[in-house]
Amino acid sequence: MNSVDQDIVHGLEGVMVCGTRLSHYDGPNGTFVLRGGADIRDVAGRMSFEDVIEHLWPDPDASFSKGSPGVAHRLHECSQLTPAAVDLLARTPVDGDAIDVLKAALAVDALEKSSSRDLSVNGAFELTAGLATAAARLARRRAGQPPVEPRPGLGFAANFLYMSTGAPPDDRQVRCLETYLVVMAEHGLNPSTFSACVTASTGSDLCSAVVAAMGTLKGPAHGGAVGEAWAMVNDAMSGSAEQVVRGRLAANRLLPGFGHREYRVYDPRAKIFRDLCRTENPAYFRTAQEIEAVALPQLAERGVGRTISVNVDFYAGGVLAAAGIAPELFTSCFAMARIVGWCAHALEYVDSGGRLISPTSKWLG
Ligand code: ACO
Repeated sequence: MNSVDQDIVHGLEGVMVCGTRLSHYDGPNGTFVLRGGADIRDVAGRMSFEDVIEHLWPDPDASFSKGSPGVAHRLHECSQLTPAAVDLLARTPVDGDAIDVLKAALAVDALEKSSSRDLSVNGAFELTAGLATAAARLARRRAGQPPVEPRPGLGFAANFLYMSTGAPPDDRQVRCLETYLVVMAEHGLNPSTFSACVTASTGSDLCSAVVAAMGTLKGPAHGGAVGEAWAMVNDAMSGSAEQVVRGRLAANRLLPGFGHREYRVYDPRAKIFRDLCRTENPAYFRTAQEIEAVALPQLAERGVGRTISVNVDFYAGGVLAAAGIAPELFTSCFAMARIVGWCAHALEYVDSGGRLISPTSKWLG
């Protein structure tokens, strides 16, 4: 570190900007709990996505505190898009980046839905349901198929798969997507959630906070890594894990699905996805294990006093593929899950005073 660096916290590492009751990770020990101390290993497979929403979002009117059917009902009520958003989804270039298309769709949808702009739980329902409907429409369009309307009575994960494929999903696919959504719904003040809070702290609207978060999520250091990790595992399936890992590192390319700002041990969420891949996507599991075996010793030499281990995105693609999701929509599924955390943190931040987040830079002359 040179003298100019002394006052600068690069990448805001370790800087606390607010308090939260929503979740807590212990990076050195590799644990993660949701509000009240619910360990993510117990939550996955036991709670539905709707349960997680109920657990994390404020409910000032006690309108959904009677159990997840209330949440499911609210999500279903909010699942229709405005004609302008439907039109946009039908006209954007079919090979455009999915997150870019969905950012535009949510922003246009909110022009005629004032509730999507509300910094309130009503806005959170509108945006969460609208994003899933938009992502499913995009999946249909990319498959050259007409859109499928949401079906009342299906849970959020099953309904998304139904709207994406037009067929009732099988239980194993639903279990894979539900587990993915539950595990990914919240993870503290990660980069995209921080973006949402910064936007909300300016007094802007909830849709803008979510759209800002989506732009941040898209980067390969964050939510873009899931597709890249999936592609790396697939390269190794048709070649060799040894060649793929050594080739990337020799070319000074990062290994997607490895490394994390907070976890210095195996990401606890990655273990959940690894175990799911073992049964639901065994080919992915086997090749991913081969990559781990080659990569971890190589990364140990690069960590400069830090352990670089497996992060949540390494096995996530295997889980999403087992759910029947196309790789170009992996990051969109991440957004469909993490929107829960974005909204929860933005609302919590504003509710706890919401002081404008405005850091500073050092004048370098
Ligand atoms: N492959 C190769 N080298 C790596 C990797 C990796 N995956 N991760 C870190 N390193 C290297 C860094 O380049 C750095 O080397 P340097 O000091 O010579 O530049 C050294 O290890 C230490 O890096 P950290 O300080 O631990 O990294 P940081 O906290 O800044 O970044 C990040 C964490 C962005 C996740 C990084 O590990 C990375 O880019 N990983 C690959 C992308 C990825 O999987 N992202 C998903 C993260 S999880 C999530 O968002 C859901």
